[in-house]
Amino acid sequence: MTTILVTGASGFVGRRFVKRWGNDYHLLLPSHSELNICSEASVSAYFHTHRPDVVLHLAALSNTGYCEQHPDESFKVNVLGTQHLAENAAKCAAKFIFFSSDQIYNGNWEEGPLSEDMPVAPENHYGKHKLEAEQRMMQANAEAVALRATWMYDADNPEFPPHADFATNFARAIAEGTPLRFATREYRGITWVAEVVENLPHTFSLPGGVYNFGAENHLNTYQTACRYFKMLQCRLPLSEIVLADTERFPEHIRNISISNQKITQASAGAIRFNDTLKGFKRFLEVHR
Ligand SMILES: NC(=O)c1ccc[n+]([C@@H]2O[C@H](COP(=O)([O-])OP(=O)(O)OC[C@H]3O[C@@H](n4cnc5c(N)ncnc54)[C@H](OP(=O)(O)O)[C@@H]3O)[C@@H](O)[C@H]2O)c1
Repeated sequence: MTTILVTGASGFVGRRFVKRWGNDYHLLLPSHSELNICSEASVSAYFHTHRPDVVLHLAALSNTGYCEQHPDESFKVNVLGTQHLAENAAKCAAKFIFFSSDQIYNGNWEEGPLSEDMPVAPENHYGKHKLEAEQRMMQANAEAVALRATWMYDADNPEFPPHADFATNFARAIAEGTPLRFATREYRGITWVAEVVENLPHTFSLPGGVYNFGAENHLNTYQTACRYFKMLQCRLPLSEIVLADTERFPEHIRNISISNQKITQASAGAIRFNDTLKGFKRFLEVHR
């Protein structure tokens, strides 16, 4: 059985990965004290003892606002933690899969779906640190894979801690009758986490490199929210729940919407995502 070391297994993606794939793989799920990713010595000792076949690196400071306020901490966890794991995975020939982010594109001014070979200059610490982590990872480990994930959502599930995301924010807003504001000057993919988790095992055989990994979406975030609201078939009027925010991102349109062409080709079609609207439809078929 393939042994997978999962970092960040207690997080949003990690818990869902463990639930979906826990019977198919031998999973190593160390606590922070068993594996301190910020310490090279701790990582090296852990790999020496456990020798995983695959490392799925989900651990991160994932809140962009927190990283902006605490850049040193973000650097230690998001950059150095990734580097330590990538180096040690290379030493024991383990496949290294790192969750990067579409926030890497948040300084880009281009329109349309963005590809991995575009020059990038992220504007916030989170995006900068994810980019630096990718670069250090590739330097340490040419077979490593970075997945630039989009914003993910799921339904509230009593098995897991509550999570604020696109779908749960909507559910709460409708229950409380409080409106949500969505930017008209923003383009991004929004992905059901179940699709991410389902595709993950196929990433273990990808050639080393950086890949976009999530739903494509050609609508702006306000248009996307309007379409989701309609699919919910809610009795409230749209204008009571979905408001257009036309002022956010005044400098340039914030386009972080991805193209999946590279990963689809590299996996010979094994890795596939619905676009954001089709993903909503599938999600609501299961969770309405
Ligand atoms: N969720 C999204 O929409 C999204 C979008 C794009 C990219 N991503 C990326 O995808 C990955 C998974 O995201 P997520 O939403 O599952 O994140 P999450 O819910 O915030 O979980 C982060 C995990 O990292 C662990 N962690 C934090 N600091 C750590 C440290 N110093 N040492 C070891 N573990 C540490 C946390 O453990 P504790 O709970 O014990 O603190 C938790 O298990 C992250 O790399 C994130 O940046 C997420």
